Amino acid sequence: MMEEGTVSNQSETLLVHPAVKPLSFLLGTWRGEGQGFFPTISSFNYSEDLQFSHSPNKPVIAYSQKTWNLKSGQPMHSESGYWRPKPDGTIEVVIAQSTGLVEVQKGTYDMKEGAVKLNSELVGNASKVKEISRVFKVENCELSYVVEMATSLIGLQPHLKASLKKL
Ligand code: HEM
Repeated sequence: MMEEGTVSNQSETLLVHPAVKPLSFLLGTWRGEGQGFFPTISSFNYSEDLQFSHSPNKPVIAYSQKTWNLKSGQPMHSESGYWRPKPDGTIEVVIAQSTGLVEVQKGTYDMKEGAVKLNSELVGNASKVKEISRVFKVENCELSYVVEMATSLIGLQPHLKASLKKL
């Protein structure tokens, strides 16, 4: 019987690509709620579905999320992208947002902490946003994240905080 995360041969099925195995704690579908804020806007609450999935023959995790206004149920922001972990504990992430903004994020992951920390190397096609940082943490079966942004007027500070449970 093959151990999860090992390389397959022709007769065995690969369950998790070895490059993705340290980030297995993220894989799955998550649902929860978040709050949004920034000095220039009114605070808001949202619900969110978020998915990390992967094909066992690829060293990459596919990421997607959708959000809804908590009161009205109307769709809000959505985004999707690809997470590419490397064996040295660094990670490269690309994200395309429903607003048209694109991000290239670089950072680190820590399997023991269940954490991923990202800072934008590139923010493109954005009228206001200059920088984005994202911190994800999985603890006690809960995925929480904080997204901070800097705009042309305001320095880096939180725009989103959310916590989600695995479905
Ligand atoms: C990294 C992800 C995101 C970025 C970079 C981003 C960027 C921004 C920016 C630049 C503003 C305008 C701030 C200002 O005028 O000073 C804004 C406002 C806002 N954002 Fe986000 N946002 C993100 C994610 C989200 C998500 C996930 C939601 C909803 C769940 C959301 C909902 C809103 C709302 C409701 C406003 C205020 C109204 C508006 O200006 O449309 N944002 N966001």
